Amino acid sequence: NEKTASMKTENTVWHNQQISKEQRANLKQQKPALLWYTGLSGSGKSTVANAVDSLLFKLGCHSYLLDGDNVRHGLNGDLGFSDEARIENIRRISEVAKLFLDAGLIVSTAFISPFASDRALAKAKLEEGEFIEVFIDTPISVCEQRDPKGLYKKARAGEIKDFTGIDSTYDVPTLPQIHVKTAEQSVEQCAEQIVGYLISQGFIS
Ligand code: PPS
Repeated sequence: NEKTASMKTENTVWHNQQISKEQRANLKQQKPALLWYTGLSGSGKSTVANAVDSLLFKLGCHSYLLDGDNVRHGLNGDLGFSDEARIENIRRISEVAKLFLDAGLIVSTAFISPFASDRALAKAKLEEGEFIEVFIDTPISVCEQRDPKGLYKKARAGEIKDFTGIDSTYDVPTLPQIHVKTAEQSVEQCAEQIVGYLISQGFIS
């Protein structure tokens, strides 16, 4: 695979842009960061990420949210839920997120991203300190009770296979920068926790 990738890129040249990432971000008095949300289906990734994005917007930050279902309808519409497809899903998302960071933005990605190795690869693509893992830690029993799309019910009935947490793996983050417990806090409290982290670390003011 690596061989094919290098064959495809051997006649292309990387162009450094004249305007740096820092210059673009400085326009908004912010430091680029990637809030990488991870958690089970129904854990509240999108809900919390949207609440954070709204808070950031109110604070005058330039941010952008790449969200699970939307990206899977477009860019990654060709991918399913086998391990290989999930790996490719996360690879593409991390490349797109990197481009948005280069544009100077505070980027959020809200995907299950079940494999620790893929989250590590996404982190490795960025500069030191830019990758912020946000673990949306909601017990599967709570996710299953919420079941907003009826998917757990279908998975339990055997109508969906390879469902995360049931018959597909979820690697629990071991050292997330931010640990959010949606079963114990309101959406607003979760969002404030995350924005508070960005302020305390000097990404925004
Ligand atoms: S992954 O694992 O990161 O590639 O998944 P992601 O791109 O975040 O997509 C998760 C959403 O797809 C729906 N869905 C499934 N999830 C898990 N397992 C299986 N088999 C599956 N099939 C469909 C589901 O709506 C997920 O949305 P969220 O928002 O996470 O509940």
